[in-house]
Amino acid sequence: MSKYIIKQSAPLHGEVEISGAKNATLPILAATVLTDGVCEIHDTPHLSDVEVMCEILRAVGATVTEDYERHVITVDGSTVDKSVVPYDLVKKERASFFIMGPLLARMGKVNIALPGGCAIGERPVDLHTKGIRMLGARVVTSDGEVNANADKLKGALVYLDFPSVGATENIMMAATLAEGETTIENAAEEPEIVDLANFLNSMGAQIKGAGTDTIRITGVDKLHGTRYAVIPDRIETATFMIAAATTRGNILIKNCIPDHVRPIIAKLIECGVDISDEPEGLRVRGDKNHLKATNIKTLPYPGFPTDAQAPIMTLLTTVDGQSRINETLFENRLMHANELNRMGANIRVDGRTAIVPGNQRPLEGASVMATDLRAGAALVIAGLVATGTTEVTNIYHIERGYEDFVRKLKNLGADIEKVD
Ligand code: EPZ
Repeated sequence: MSKYIIKQSAPLHGEVEISGAKNATLPILAATVLTDGVCEIHDTPHLSDVEVMCEILRAVGATVTEDYERHVITVDGSTVDKSVVPYDLVKKERASFFIMGPLLARMGKVNIALPGGCAIGERPVDLHTKGIRMLGARVVTSDGEVNANADKLKGALVYLDFPSVGATENIMMAATLAEGETTIENAAEEPEIVDLANFLNSMGAQIKGAGTDTIRITGVDKLHGTRYAVIPDRIETATFMIAAATTRGNILIKNCIPDHVRPIIAKLIECGVDISDEPEGLRVRGDKNHLKATNIKTLPYPGFPTDAQAPIMTLLTTVDGQSRINETLFENRLMHANELNRMGANIRVDGRTAIVPGNQRPLEGASVMATDLRAGAALVIAGLVATGTTEVTNIYHIERGYEDFVRKLKNLGADIEKVD
C-alpha cells in the first residue's frame, strides 16, 4: 500500500502549473460516444479516473488513444457498438454514470450499474433518471442497475430539484440528439458545465445558457468529431492557493482561470492572504499578514465549492480565532476533521458543521488516512506545517484527482516522498 511521508517544510515558494480539469475531462470523454466522428481532446490530465473512463469507452466499442506525454486523448466513436457498461468499471468510478445519457442517445438503449455511494455520501442518481425519463425514455431501475431505452428522445422541460452537476451533464448530453427543444431549469452552473457545453457545440450541438440556471438545447440529427482543449482544474488551483496560505508561502499559480476560483479568493482575502493577478498567473502570499478566522458554507457554484472545503479546514486550524464550516452538499464530508484531530486540531463536528478552534499550537505529525481525494489533499497540506513527520495512507484517492501532486509540491519546496 503506497503512502506519502511528509516532513515539516519551509513555506512554499516558486511556481506551479495547473493541469486540465478532471471534472471537465470526464463528462467530455463520455460525450464522445454521441458521434461516429473522431474527437481529439487536449490538456487532459493523467489521472486514474481518466484512465478508467477511457476503459469504459473501449468497453462500449470506441477506439481510444491516450497520449499522456502530449496530454491528448483521441476517441474514434465510429466503432461504438455496445450499450452495456460493465459493472466492474462503474463501481471503480462514479463519473462513469455520466455515459448513461450519451450512450442512450447514440444507441437507443443503455444498461448501466447504479454507481454506489462513497465515503462522502449516498449520492443518489434519481435526478439523472428523472431527466432521461422526461426525455421520453423508458427507464427501469432494478437489481442495482438502470435499463433505459428510447427509439428517439424527445425534447422536454426538465426541472432539477437540486442543481446536480452530473444530472445536468447527463441530461444536456442526451438532449443534443433529442427531437426538438429541451430546457433544463435549476441547472448546475459550474464552469465544467460550460466547458462541456462548449465541447458539444464544437461538435455541432445547439446549446445556450450553460453557466446559468436555465440551459436550452435544440436537438440535432447528428454530431461530428472535433478538436477541443479542456479548462484548467479550478479545484487543483484552490488546493495550491490554500497550501500557499497554510504554509505562509509565496507562490505563482500558472495556467489557472481566476474567475473560476472567486469564492476561494474572497475567503482567503478575508483571512488576510494577499492575492494578486499577475500577467503570468495568480500570486498567492500567506506571508504578508497575520492570518485570521473566517466562516465557510459550501454551496453549488458560484458558492464556495464543497471540493475545497477539506483543504481550507486545514488552513483554518492554523489561523487566529475560531472558524465555522458548514458542509451543505454532502451528508458525510467532514471525516477529515477526525484525521486533523489526530494531529492536534481539536475540531468539533456537529452534524454538517465543524467548529475549528484555530491555532492553539502547531499541528503534530501523525499517521493519517485519506477518506476522499480532497480530504487527502487537506492532510498533505497539514503535514507540511505539522511538527515532525506525517504519513498519509490511502493515497490512491489523491492520485485519482491530482496529476503529479508530489512533483509539483516538491518543486515548491515541500518535503514529501511517495513510498510503496
Ligand atoms: C460532481 O459530483 C463532482 N464530480 C464532485 O467532485 C463535486 O463534489 C460535486 O459535483 C458537487 O460539486 C464530478 O464532476 C466527476 P452532484 P456529482 O450531483 O455530479 C445530490 C471531486 O472531488 N444528488 O452535484 O455526483 C447529491 O446527493 C468530486 O472531484 C441527488 O440528490 O455531484 C449531492 O448531495 C467529489 N440526486 C448533491 O446532489 C441526483 O440524482 C450534489 O451532487 C444527483 C445528485
